[in-house]
Amino acid sequence: MADPKTLLSTRFRAALEAAFGEEWADTDPLIRPSSFGDYQANLAMSLAKRLRRPPREVAEALAGQLEVGDLCESVEVSGPGFINLTLRAGWIAEEATLVASDDRLGVPLAAEPQVTVVDYSAPNVAKEMHVGHLRSTVIGDALARVLGFLGNRVIRQNHLGDWGAPFGMLIEHLIDIGAADSAKLTVRDLNLFYQQAREKFDGDPDFAERARRRVVELQAGDETTLRLWRMLVDESLRHFRAIYDRLGVLLTDDDLDPESSYNPELPGIVAELSEKGLLRESQGALCVFPPGFTGRDGEPLPLIVRNSMGGYNYATTDLAAVRRRVDEFGATHLVYVVGAPQALHFAMVFETCCMAGWLRDQRAEHAAFGSILGTDGKMLRTRSGDPTKMVDLLDEAEVRAAKVIEDRGELDPEERVRVAHTVAMGALKYFDLSFQRERDYVFDWDRMLAFDGNTGAYLQYAVTRIRSIFRRGGIAVEDAAGAPILVSEPAERALALKLLGLGEAVESVAATLEPHRLTTYLFELASAFTDFFEACPVLQSEGAVRESRLALCALTVRALTLGLDLLGIRVPERM
Ligand code: ARG
Repeated sequence: MADPKTLLSTRFRAALEAAFGEEWADTDPLIRPSSFGDYQANLAMSLAKRLRRPPREVAEALAGQLEVGDLCESVEVSGPGFINLTLRAGWIAEEATLVASDDRLGVPLAAEPQVTVVDYSAPNVAKEMHVGHLRSTVIGDALARVLGFLGNRVIRQNHLGDWGAPFGMLIEHLIDIGAADSAKLTVRDLNLFYQQAREKFDGDPDFAERARRRVVELQAGDETTLRLWRMLVDESLRHFRAIYDRLGVLLTDDDLDPESSYNPELPGIVAELSEKGLLRESQGALCVFPPGFTGRDGEPLPLIVRNSMGGYNYATTDLAAVRRRVDEFGATHLVYVVGAPQALHFAMVFETCCMAGWLRDQRAEHAAFGSILGTDGKMLRTRSGDPTKMVDLLDEAEVRAAKVIEDRGELDPEERVRVAHTVAMGALKYFDLSFQRERDYVFDWDRMLAFDGNTGAYLQYAVTRIRSIFRRGGIAVEDAAGAPILVSEPAERALALKLLGLGEAVESVAATLEPHRLTTYLFELASAFTDFFEACPVLQSEGAVRESRLALCALTVRALTLGLDLLGIRVPERM
């Protein structure tokens, strides 16, 4: 069982070898969906240039060698050298029946499973989570689910920002406002607290000095300072947990990978860099100058690992994190789901790790993402200019979802609240995941919560609609799933063919770390189902056709549910 694209690619490899010799076997056949058949292979044109032969001739030679009689009904060369491929309906039907009998719905396990660390969410202590953390949390969670489902061992790491210079001022402020003595601290508004500390730091030299001394005490492990720091961390964690809980992400306390935990390792990191001759002093700071990184002025860029006051920083911690992940966790693949502005940081960290021998044959990738913009095209902010808080975002999503559901008038008030939560979280996540990861997107409530188009609600609704077919027919999805799938109507053929593509969609998410490839697939699948359902009566049909159509419905609902689950999206019972 294989999806048609993968299967055709294998056949093309053999044809390439037969037609032009072994050295051409790895040429990408460039197989794309086509309106002149099911697929077209576009490789002849570029291959022709390299072979110095007319493209048409190259295409004919390939088509002549291509052995696809079992799965294709026709292979045609057209235009300058496109190879159009039309699959046999019988083959599609058989494959779809096989997929339906597979627990994994045709999604293969990774051929070489990795130990993958996914570094995501990573909010900062003593600051409320804001919209900037939404993408990391949602994309990271989807990638963790997808990579895990493919059989990789996924280690989630929530690289909590709980260490470094800001904590001096935060702790000093805590003492000033007298919160230090209270048994339990409630930093009611973490942002406000942070801002107050910041203002004092900027405006009051005496406070600033105290704050600096406080950092030294913290890093040296002073008892009282550590107790206050712990209070800040605990209070923040309470807040983060509540948000993870509402969002329904996989992150738990076991996944915490706080920056502070690297504190004891940092001197060793710097010592090792020094032993390896990789450090240079620049204005009192110790730096690595990885080759190939230059500033605007053409000067080599430093990765500072110890500042002039002897303090370690974000970069030093990330070096230590790579070392721990590779050496202790045995990671073979490192994924960092962090905003695009940190691209340079990660490129320099990875390069430094290669130089130091902390990264050898392990793959390290920065899965960078763009910003969420308001309708004004600027970063999404509240009226007062602060980044929108995550809590407010989740609240508003739920209120709006409830309103949309109320307007549809389907559910009673009590059910509405539950459903609104699931629809709201699904809408937020799906909307975010549906954009190409590296691009910025404009936050748009109406589009996000629409019941039609490429949205979470549309897909959730598609699932509930199919479930209701089974309810009306008094049939269980599992009982319908095993029947042979027949393909005669064009809409049946299109749906069955689409159902063969789940594996490829999921694998492409893993290969590119781009979840939008799965949202696009799911949307196309749901659309193919809508077309099928309009053209082909299900419950009203009879015999083997009815069974086949029910099997198609069953496979579709399972594929949609699995796909949404891999994106971290649940589906309400009704909506
Ligand atoms: N706490 C950081 C921030 O909010 C993100 C940390 C990302 N992970 C890492 N290993 N550096 O910008």
